[in-house]
Amino acid sequence: MSDYILGIESSCDDTSIALVDTEYRVIAMKTVSQTSVHSLFGGIIPEIAARNHIAWIFPLLRSLLDEAKISLSDLSAIAVTTHPGLVGSLLVGVGAAKGISAATGIPLVGINHLEAHIASASLNRKSRPQLPFLSLIISGGHTSLIEVKKEGIYTLGATMDDAAGEAFDKVAKMAKLGYPGGPVIDKLAQKGDASRYKMPKLLTSEKYKHSFVFSFSGLKTATQRFLKNDDIDMPSLMAAFQKSLFELVERRIIYALKHNKYKALVVVGGVSANSELRERMERVSHRFDTALFLPELQYCQDNGAMTAAAAIPAFQTKQFADFTLDAAPTKREIYG
Ligand code: KG4
Ligand code: ZN
Repeated sequence: MSDYILGIESSCDDTSIALVDTEYRVIAMKTVSQTSVHSLFGGIIPEIAARNHIAWIFPLLRSLLDEAKISLSDLSAIAVTTHPGLVGSLLVGVGAAKGISAATGIPLVGINHLEAHIASASLNRKSRPQLPFLSLIISGGHTSLIEVKKEGIYTLGATMDDAAGEAFDKVAKMAKLGYPGGPVIDKLAQKGDASRYKMPKLLTSEKYKHSFVFSFSGLKTATQRFLKNDDIDMPSLMAAFQKSLFELVERRIIYALKHNKYKALVVVGGVSANSELRERMERVSHRFDTALFLPELQYCQDNGAMTAAAAIPAFQTKQFADFTLDAAPTKREIYG
C-alpha cells in the first residue's frame, strides 16, 4: 500500500487539508476559503481567521477521509505548517496535528510555508526540479527570489515594502474592485491596453539596478494618482499596473539566469496563478533553456497538498518532530 501524508495548512485565511502520496500525487484535497468573510473588511482579520479555522478543520478532515476512503490509521505522516504566518491561525493547525498524532501515534512533520509553496510546483508532476534551481515565491505575504542548492537555501533578494500580491490587493481596494485583488486585476488587464497609462520603470537607479530586491510602493502611488481622474479606462490602467510590476520581476529573473547556471526555474505562490506572469515565465525559461516549474492553478494559493508534499523528504529520511512542535509567527523570509 502507498504511503499517504496528511497535509494541514492554516497559516493565513484558507483552511486546507489534503492527502498526498510519496510520488507527489494529490489523492484528495478539501479547502474552505474565508475570502467572502474577510472581503467585507477589505483585508484579513486575524482573529476571525483563527476562529474559522477552528470551526472548519475537523469537518474538513472527516470529509477528506470519507472521500478518499481512508482512515486515520492508514496515514504515514502528518505535515503541518508551523511558520511563517498569522500565529493564531497557525496554532489551530499545529494544535490539530499534534492532537491527531497524540491520539494515533502517527509521526509529525513541521513545515515552513515557503518551502511548501516551492513543493507545490512538484504536485502531480513526474519530475522534480533538479538542484541548483532558482525560485520566485510571489504571494500576498512574500516576494522573494531564492536559490535552492545542495548546500541549502539562499535568499538573493526580497521585497523592501509590499509583497506583489499585497500590491495587487491594495490597488484593487483603491479602485474598489474587491478582495482579493489579484484574480480581478488579472482578468480586467486581459481586456486593457497597457500603453494607455505611463507607469514608472521600477528600481532602475544605480543602487538597485543590479540587485535582486523588489519594491512596489512607487507603483502603487502612481496607480493611485491615475485613479483620481474621472475618466478611467480601468482595464487599461490595471494592465499598465500589472505590466510594470511583472517587468521588474522578469528583469530580476533574467539577471539571475544570466549570471548563474540553474537547472530549473520554479515560480510559486498565489500570484503565480497570474496569466501574464505565467506567459512571461514560459518565454524566459525558453530563452534560457531552463526547465520551468509552475504549480497547477489550484495549487498556486495556500493549500494542504503543498504542505504534505514538502514533508516527503523528511518522511523518507524519518526526520520527525516531537510534541514541542510549535507555531512561529515570524515574517522571516526563507533562511539562508
Ligand atoms: O499564496 P497565497 O494564497 O497566500 C499567501 O501566502 O500570501 O497568495 C494570495 C495572493 C493574494 O494577494 C492574491 O491577490 C494573489 O495571491 N493572487 C493573484 C492572482 N491570484 C491570486 N495575483 C495576481 N494574479 C492572480 N491571478
Ligand atoms: Zn502562501
